[in-house]
Amino acid sequence: MCDTDRLQKLFRQMHHTDPLIIRAPGRINLIGEHTDYNNGFVLPAAIDKAIYVAVNKRNDHKIHLYAEEYNENYIADIEKLRQPKFNWSCYVLGVVEQLIKRNYAITGFNIVIDGDVPVGGGMASSAAIECATALALNTLFDLRLSRLDMVKIAQKAEQEFVGLQCGIMDMFTSMFGKKDHVICLDCRSYEYEYFPFKQDGVKIVLLNSSIRHSLAFSEYNSRRRECEQGVALVQQHHPHVQSLRDVNMEMLDKYVAHDKVVYNRCRFVLEENERLLAGCIDLQNNDIAAFGKKMYATHKGLSKLFEVSCTELDILVDLVKNNSNVIGARMMGGGFGGCTINIVKEDAVEELIYEVREAYREKTGFNLAAYVASIEDGACIAATVTSLYHE
Ligand code: GLA
Repeated sequence: MCDTDRLQKLFRQMHHTDPLIIRAPGRINLIGEHTDYNNGFVLPAAIDKAIYVAVNKRNDHKIHLYAEEYNENYIADIEKLRQPKFNWSCYVLGVVEQLIKRNYAITGFNIVIDGDVPVGGGMASSAAIECATALALNTLFDLRLSRLDMVKIAQKAEQEFVGLQCGIMDMFTSMFGKKDHVICLDCRSYEYEYFPFKQDGVKIVLLNSSIRHSLAFSEYNSRRRECEQGVALVQQHHPHVQSLRDVNMEMLDKYVAHDKVVYNRCRFVLEENERLLAGCIDLQNNDIAAFGKKMYATHKGLSKLFEVSCTELDILVDLVKNNSNVIGARMMGGGFGGCTINIVKEDAVEELIYEVREAYREKTGFNLAAYVASIEDGACIAATVTSLYHE
């Protein structure tokens, strides 16, 4: 757990002044995976794990970055932003680059990053850094950006500076999260609705495989391209089709079936959107059992059709799927590592974590980290200072 007092103290030691501190949370996603960049729906929520950034203005054009997690410094020049060898500072500098591209007047600043969103855990730690940076700079330089503007800037930073052709879900959730609610977001129109997520008697348990396969990045981008190929095939016959959102199964069967891989990717996305909309009705009816079944179906689709799971994630789902205390489980996020999300009967949480940890170690040799996530508000100012001035 990041302690804002500790971060403030650290910042004071480094820069001899009080910082502005921003908190931006990580996220879970109940259902709706790889649908965001296909103009579909997602059902995420912000959680109690968050990134904290402490900032103040400098008198020059330098950005002094420090990440507590890596005990690492980096200095960049705002007028000559260069991509450092890929590391955590890319998420900050990517946001700076987007602001400059949009002609926002920003000057040098100090930034210290801390937090407890597990890196590579599939809880969107990178989006949390980007959103925290965007909100920090918006506040520090009085840029008057809306939350949606900041979401779009953070997403572009990830796409252009980091190189992951991600959708909007992670950033939107970090900015728009609401305590005890999931967000049903239409990624085409950005319209959204909050659904209360009643956690009476159940808990959301994240089981972290503790691994991140190196192909995660390139495979993510190639999945996106395959979905676009499917759209292009349908478009030849239906020019109005802009994304998989405008495609139905009949069109897929007719125009895409000859390319089995592309067909499977697209089919998963179409089915996932349907599952999500039906899942929202389950939640409204308080039918968590029906919702849980859909989570298992999502995992199967992600594993067999979209092919973004991996042995370790499949093992984690297999280990719980016949356990009557687990209502639903699936891999979460982009895939190839990270965690599974499990809805578990409250009384059984501890026992389940113990059992799965033992079995997982036996089968894979890896340690399992487990978190019970609560749903919290989106990004906010965690501590202000009366004078946001130079060191
Ligand atoms: C990553 C991306 C998101 C989304 C998910 C998969 O988290 O950043 O935009 O595509 O994968 O649903």
